[in-house]
Amino acid sequence: MSNTKVSIIGVGNVGSTLAYNLATNKICSKIVLKDIRENIVEAMTLDISQSASAANSNTIVQAAKSGKDLVDSNIVVITAGVPRKPGMSRDDLLLINAKIIKSVIEDIKEYCPNTIIIVVSNPLDAMVYAALKISGFKRNKVIGMAGILDSARMSHFIHTKLGYGAGKIKSYVMGGHGDDMVPLVNYSTVENSPITEVLSKEEIADIVDKTKNGGLQIVKLLEIGSAYYAPAHSTSLMVKSILNNDGEIYPCSVMLEGEYGHQDVVAGVPIKLDSNGLKEVVEFELTAEQKELFNKSINSVKELTNVLDNKFFN
Ligand code: NAI
Ligand code: 2OP
Repeated sequence: MSNTKVSIIGVGNVGSTLAYNLATNKICSKIVLKDIRENIVEAMTLDISQSASAANSNTIVQAAKSGKDLVDSNIVVITAGVPRKPGMSRDDLLLINAKIIKSVIEDIKEYCPNTIIIVVSNPLDAMVYAALKISGFKRNKVIGMAGILDSARMSHFIHTKLGYGAGKIKSYVMGGHGDDMVPLVNYSTVENSPITEVLSKEEIADIVDKTKNGGLQIVKLLEIGSAYYAPAHSTSLMVKSILNNDGEIYPCSVMLEGEYGHQDVVAGVPIKLDSNGLKEVVEFELTAEQKELFNKSINSVKELTNVLDNKFFN
């Protein structure tokens, strides 16, 4: 934790909750917050600094006055974005958020060109693709958060179905962060036993369905936004893994370079993180059905990145 700086761009629900998590758990020594809403940044900087004091944490939280304050960031987390509004198409949202990513990346390139970028903004895989293209960074330095969240949701639904095993369930979800994500049933365990041994096919199908709709379920209930506690905690695990080299395998969104039979496309796959970001993609053995589902998910991501290629990068 000594001399480690994490900057968070976008201090809305996810960004502020992430800062709170990092500060109160002493995960890094300095946090810089940046947003276009300056009053919010100031308020959150005070509130989270005071939370750190209450937690006896020596993490310093500062508001960025300009891009210059990003200098020396080990990690920059991008949670800046706008939500989809009535009348806005998916493509409209895609292009608006890509523009935001572009403005953020310009600051990163100027003030901390050696940093590692964690992208959270949606549509996730397309935003990672945009961040990679705009920054020109190598793929190890630009990683998206979604698979840890989707896997946590799967573990939650396994627990609610079983009624036991809380904290002892491991799940993996691969693919894009969208309707076609691929929950890996055969890699999911409770107390180290495969869930296929303790749940019926119908129960597992229901878990898979609930996992895919986990984000939407919360959006519908909240009405004014999307989930933020689990997204922020999932991002903090990536930050911790990068800063501590803990060698955990986490599903994260990265550019594929031949792994799982794909290249020049971003999707969630199990990876190892280290102080340089992506250390390696871990290739799980997939069944024929899983391969087919993963390919379908890849095609959905490509539909979005094709729009970026044609309307944003052209
Ligand atoms: P939010 O609306 O609460 O916060 C977004 C923040 O971005 C706002 O404070 C806004 O002022 C700021 N912003 C907009 N343009 C900016 C710019 N150019 N520079 C700096 N800041 C800017 O949204 P929330 O709930 O925090 O979500 C953030 C993003 O993360 C959204 O795109 C959301 O869909 C996505 N998300 C992704 C998840 C994932 O699994 N990858 C999970 C949860 C959210
Ligand atoms: C989620 O899955 C909205 O992507 C966000 O909660």
